[in-house]
Amino acid sequence: METIALKGLKKYFRVFKRREGLIRTFASLFKRKYSDVKAVDDISFTIKEGELVGFIGPNGAGKTTTLKCLSGLLYPSSGNVDVLGFKPFERKNQFLKSISLVMGQKNQLWWDLPAVESFRLNKEIYELDETTYQKNLNELMELLEVGTQVNQPVRSLSLGQRMKMELIAALIHHPKVLFLDEPTIGLDIVMQKKMRDFLGKYNQKYQATILLTSHYMADVKELCRRVIIINNGKLIYDGNLDKLSQKYSHHKIITAHFDNSFDRQKLSKLGEIKSIDENKVILHIKKVDTRQAAVTLLEKFKVRDLNIEEPELEDVISIIFEGKSNV
Ligand SMILES: Nc1ncnc2c1ncn2[C@@H]1O[C@H](COP(=O)(O)OP(=O)(O)O)[C@@H](O)[C@H]1O
Ligand SMILES: [Mg+2]
Repeated sequence: METIALKGLKKYFRVFKRREGLIRTFASLFKRKYSDVKAVDDISFTIKEGELVGFIGPNGAGKTTTLKCLSGLLYPSSGNVDVLGFKPFERKNQFLKSISLVMGQKNQLWWDLPAVESFRLNKEIYELDETTYQKNLNELMELLEVGTQVNQPVRSLSLGQRMKMELIAALIHHPKVLFLDEPTIGLDIVMQKKMRDFLGKYNQKYQATILLTSHYMADVKELCRRVIIINNGKLIYDGNLDKLSQKYSHHKIITAHFDNSFDRQKLSKLGEIKSIDENKVILHIKKVDTRQAAVTLLEKFKVRDLNIEEPELEDVISIIFEGKSNV
């Protein structure tokens, strides 16, 4: 059985159009004009137990709305949502004990109290016995490399430390399914990396099913083999991360180091020159021409070193979202 199954999920928000001016305001009492924002517009996918899937898309794509429907914070306009065999919006106790939603921009911890007080509250909410609570807490503290900071008021912690506490609070009951909405947002590179390592370990250790939203492609590259991409509430890709660039980008990147000077004019016939840095040149070459270009470079130019790569994930993503898939 699938752990998560979405079928034809739609979530529309009705927004009332405001009119300017006092008279217009009165008028709008009688003649309300509204439109529907199609935040999620017919999305389907399934996720198996233990999978760690990246969920990406530009701002306003519908990611948070989808995660809220999956965790039972929002009632779908239509479609089927199934998580661990539950209908999330029913918010059954057993369901709530099996999932967690972590939002990077929101905190659930008491600001003026030590984080450990919030953990204790969650212990009660999730009805954990003392032994299980202590065991889970110790494990999480160890995995996240957290020490006595749990006894400090949350407001005195750095953003990174606070995020670690958020994760402990969210995971204290060992949820089987974890929805992460921008968990690394605003963190510095070192802390982002620590978070990633932790999420990878948590996924492995507990076979937890994780759906991860992030703006940082490094998170996705390092953690997820599979990605689901949405834009304007619609699903546009669901599959292997590696195959993404094969499907959407039609060029490869050749980096060539020349021994000495080179004929720029001749070089530009091979492909698009992206940058020149002394003797190092970066070229974008159409996929179909890559082989021939490499041969020409080696034979006709004095190349010291040659490297062929797929475009970076960031570039592929922008190609997809800007609809420039024939670049
Ligand atoms: N409560 C709401 N009322 C009206 N519109 C909303 C509401 N929540 C989200 N939206 C709209 O739905 C779309 C998707 O938003 P969201 O799911 O937050 O996207 P993402 O998380 O991918 O940035 C956006 O156009 C957003 O403005
Ligand atoms: Mg969002």
